[in-house]
Amino acid sequence: AQQYRITLLPGDGIGPEIMTVAVEVLKVVGKKFDLQFEFQEALIGGAAIDEAGEPLPSTTLDMCRNSDAVLLAAIGGYKWDSLPSNLRPEAGLLGLRAGLELFANLRPAKILPELIDSSTLKREIVEGVDIMVVRELTGGIYFGKPKGIFSSETNEKRGINTMVYAESEIERIGKVAFEAARKRQSRLCSVDKANVLEVSQVWRNRITDLANDYPDVELSHMYVDNAAMQLVRAPKQFDTIVTGNLFGDILSDAAAMLTGSIGMLPSASLGASGPGVFEPVHGSAPDIAGQDKANPLAQVLSAAMMLRYGLNQPQAADAVENTVSSILQQDMRTGDIMSPGMKLLGCSAMGEVLIETLEKL
Ligand code: NAD
Ligand code: IPM
Ligand code: MN
Repeated sequence: AQQYRITLLPGDGIGPEIMTVAVEVLKVVGKKFDLQFEFQEALIGGAAIDEAGEPLPSTTLDMCRNSDAVLLAAIGGYKWDSLPSNLRPEAGLLGLRAGLELFANLRPAKILPELIDSSTLKREIVEGVDIMVVRELTGGIYFGKPKGIFSSETNEKRGINTMVYAESEIERIGKVAFEAARKRQSRLCSVDKANVLEVSQVWRNRITDLANDYPDVELSHMYVDNAAMQLVRAPKQFDTIVTGNLFGDILSDAAAMLTGSIGMLPSASLGASGPGVFEPVHGSAPDIAGQDKANPLAQVLSAAMMLRYGLNQPQAADAVENTVSSILQQDMRTGDIMSPGMKLLGCSAMGEVLIETLEKL
């Protein structure tokens, strides 16, 4: 059997609940496809702060580096919200992305036919939506310097972050995006704020130059404010979107809602080499944590992305994705995607039906 070492980072809030489901699914898929997973669990986020005093212990980063792939659930919660930014749970996640140099974040937003009625938008607007957001993940305003909270002589505080992109950073994410577009409908929309920001002017120029290497891909540019509007107005105009770290964070949550619930959306964070991190787009959902209400499907679909992009096991990935579709066809729903006439399931019950369905597949 093919062997894989997988680091699991359950994190905080609903993280451990949805991670349990995804691991059960992976165990069954492993049996079916003769893949042997060696799971090792590590601390990140609030859980790491409580146990080890820091959001990303070096042991965690080392374990991640020494694995074939990392499956992360979510981090964060009210309890840690008043800590300084470098000690918050979020710093653990950002440190992990930076530490593994995961500059490319793939966030697919595809409407499943079964969930069209769960979307807050009309059927004719969302039917057929299939968007890939390629978000730059280790640069931009999240990491630019100077950053910090500074006090002036009058003791007034000034919060500072810097949005910066070097051409080399734009080029490497641009290449990932053009390649991704090529495997899809060959249409790439680069989203920026080049009418105001110099960083976006450099972005737009570099992406435009890069397009010469991809004559088969149709490139367009859009300002981010318009893109936010167009995503809810007429989402089907988009195929692949490439954008910076902050704009990608915001637009991918908006794109998530087109598909019914943020509880459905997976993501893959990839670098030039080394293990990728696979995680849902959503957070730790502290408002429903510990209540067995979370939708585990984004986590399960993140495990499918791990099989596809991290371990090169497309058939196993297909099996997981088909299982999710089959569950939805059987009218089973968690609260976030519930609609009249459907069967309401908790997180763990959803896990059980996933296993049953996958075993029969
Ligand atoms: P969130 O995504 O955690 O929750 C937003 C809303 O969506 C909530 O009402 C929540 O209940 C719901 N939701 C999210 N995932 C769900 C699921 N699987 N099933 C059902 N409902 C779900 O965003 P937030 O409330 O803004 O942030 C909460 C915490 O999560 C913060 O500490 C934030 O920093 C962190 N966060 C972490 C990640 C991550 O780990 N990648 C991503 C986003 C936010
Ligand atoms: C995400 C999250 C993170 C981000 C936070 C928790 C650091 O919102 O993965 O989308 O902003 O990238
Ligand atoms: Mn986000």
